[in-house]
Amino acid sequence: MEKKNPTAISQPRTWPRRTIIWMAAAVGIVGLVRLGIFPTPAQRWALRDNPGVQDSPYGLFPQENDPFHFIPCTDVSRPPPLDDPTPQQSWAALFDPNPNHWSWGSTGRGIYLCGYLDLPLDYHNSSDHRIVRIAVNKFQVAGLAHKNDPRISSKSYRSERTIIINPGGPGGSGTSFLWETAEEMTNRFSDGELDVLGWDPRGVNFSLPAAACFPQNGFRDRWSLLALRYREEAPRAQLEAVDAMNNATFFACQQRLGDFGRFISTASVARDLDEIRKALHEEEVTGYLVSYGTGIGQTYVNMFPTRAGRLILDGTEYVRDHRLLGGFGWTALDNATDAWRDGFLGECLNAGPKWCALANPVSSQNGPVTLAQLEARMAQLLDSLKARPQSAYTESGGPSLVTYSALVERILYPAMYRPENWPGTAQMLYELEAGNATLAAKSLDLSWSEHSEKPIHPYTPASSELDPLVICSDSYDAPLPDGLDWWDQLWKDMSARSWMAGNSRFFAVLPCRYYNTYWAPPSEVYRGDLNHTLKTPTLLIASPYDPATPLRNGRRLRAEMGQNARLIVHHAYGHSSRRDMSECTNQVAKAYILHGIIPKEQETHCYANEKPYVRGLIGDE
Ligand SMILES: *[C@@H]1O[C@H](CO)[C@@H](O)[C@H](O)[C@H]1NC(C)=O
Ligand SMILES: *[C@@H]1O[C@H](CO)[C@@H](O)[C@H](O)[C@H]1NC(C)=O
Ligand SMILES: *[C@@H]1O[C@H](CO)[C@@H](O)[C@H](O)[C@H]1NC(C)=O
Ligand SMILES: *[C@@H]1O[C@H](CO)[C@@H](O)[C@H](O)[C@H]1NC(C)=O
Ligand SMILES: *[C@@H]1O[C@H](CO)[C@@H](O)[C@H](O)[C@H]1NC(C)=O
Ligand SMILES: *[C@@H]1O[C@H](CO)[C@@H](O)[C@H](O)[C@H]1NC(C)=O
Repeated sequence: MEKKNPTAISQPRTWPRRTIIWMAAAVGIVGLVRLGIFPTPAQRWALRDNPGVQDSPYGLFPQENDPFHFIPCTDVSRPPPLDDPTPQQSWAALFDPNPNHWSWGSTGRGIYLCGYLDLPLDYHNSSDHRIVRIAVNKFQVAGLAHKNDPRISSKSYRSERTIIINPGGPGGSGTSFLWETAEEMTNRFSDGELDVLGWDPRGVNFSLPAAACFPQNGFRDRWSLLALRYREEAPRAQLEAVDAMNNATFFACQQRLGDFGRFISTASVARDLDEIRKALHEEEVTGYLVSYGTGIGQTYVNMFPTRAGRLILDGTEYVRDHRLLGGFGWTALDNATDAWRDGFLGECLNAGPKWCALANPVSSQNGPVTLAQLEARMAQLLDSLKARPQSAYTESGGPSLVTYSALVERILYPAMYRPENWPGTAQMLYELEAGNATLAAKSLDLSWSEHSEKPIHPYTPASSELDPLVICSDSYDAPLPDGLDWWDQLWKDMSARSWMAGNSRFFAVLPCRYYNTYWAPPSEVYRGDLNHTLKTPTLLIASPYDPATPLRNGRRLRAEMGQNARLIVHHAYGHSSRRDMSECTNQVAKAYILHGIIPKEQETHCYANEKPYVRGLIGDE
């Protein structure tokens, strides 16, 4: 499960510019479509030979016979609604012929292409003609063929293979992941040779229908505030409250989305991935799938063993666990508190006060801070918040409250995913400890979806509804105990095993109590073994301090896959190998993606380039 990190400094977006001229043009074109006088495909074809405002030096998009309907991305390239009677025309109308409005890569060569793929909602019922419309974006490293260049066809601008990426979740957006990481991916795995493709899985972000069960995002915020009380703050009454809320949420999902909950299991997503492969005209899937994405990957290669190409699964789950009731939660807990103690606190002390505020002694202490002292200080801080939340104020949010549950769920646990944020988080805790809650309140403010002045699209779905629908369909046939006692015990066990991750993981699986109340069995789940003989062995990556996908699970998967997988043990902090990079991991990964070289050993051990907090320093010394 990917976590939003509210303390993350927002990254510069490669997101297209919005220009007033383009806005005016878009309004004009959309207007024409509404009136039904937008050119038909044949007319568009004619426009191609008719240089004018509608023309572009790269020809017209979408190109004929492109199953993805790719057009160069602009700010408005969002797939047409499902009830649009002429989606292809509406989409073609979004093509902006001015290349200055397109999203080019940072070197000006690669280009971001936006498209969509219409796929069956139900792969197992040919009389059900409903579709899902999957948003697909691609970063094409070689750019586009100039239409006056007769030597080269546009086909040769596509790379031979495409790195298909997925960020996890379940609710993670692959198009958004592409915008953030495409250039990193193609450089890291292929020296910039291969194109990169990201898709929004069924129900996610721009794919349709959207798994959104609230009419507006703001409503979701007030709802999740109600839900946000951990066992340490409120045990049984909160269990009853959240359980009733889950029932209400699934009821609302059923009202708004009908039987959609039957069609979003991981097996359905794996079939979509195979359709993407076919649309790319590639024999095998090449890819980099992270976290829950590794569950899609394991499922995919075992459903389609002859289609297994060079596939990296990073931050490895053991997808078999997800067949068990609550398994998505309790198998994830091993190492989150290890990351806190040895990583966040321990490395802070190793780095010292120059790099980490928490390494400063508090007034009553003498000499350098020990790990035991720092752990005790933090335990005291957290205990005080359990007893009474800290009042706070920010200019942007007004009155604010720092509760134990909000601090752990929205700041501390997400911080374990991203060591690059540790200095900021340590500073925030240091000030909170000294009685100043301003930084903590600011981080919390940022974690609500309605914090920004520019509201996001009102029907953008959120993980809060999609995640449980996916997780619960994958375990729909596990025996369900009556009443709440079993769950109460599970909550107790999980929060005792990990104060850091136990609560949050528990609430991710509790909704499964109601899946079968509202939905018939999923159209398909994968229940086979994970040891099929694959065309190409899979490369797994797992880290001993991963707060979400512990190394133990990667090892269990490797053991079942046998000769069909190799594992890189990535000795570093954070979730997956992207957060705390290792030259060694990157070399093995690149040799695999680019040349198909697979390590001989079952396990390869790689170490991070740098220590957290003092990033860059070690290299300089
Ligand atoms: C298949 O789809 C048809 C048409 O939507 C529907 O009437 C029928 O119940 C479906 N069958 C199953 C087994 O879901
Ligand atoms: C949806 O995808 C777009 C890019 O395609 C991205 O800018 C946006 O942040 C995504 N939203 C969510 C909620 O993931
Ligand atoms: C679940 O929600 C529905 C719809 O609001 C309600 O009728 C039903 O009584 C609820 N069941 C439980 C167990 O809360
Ligand atoms: C991760 O958790 C496992 C299982 O609890 C434990 O054996 C292992 O030592 C932990 N790893 C670290 C680095 O603490
Ligand atoms: C509290 O912290 C904020 C942010 O670091 C700072 O701007 C402010 O001056 C602090 N307030 C006090 C009373 O020290
Ligand atoms: C996969 O494992 C099962 C036991 O779990 C075994 O019966 C089967 O033969 C194995 N298949 C292959 C291809 O190794």
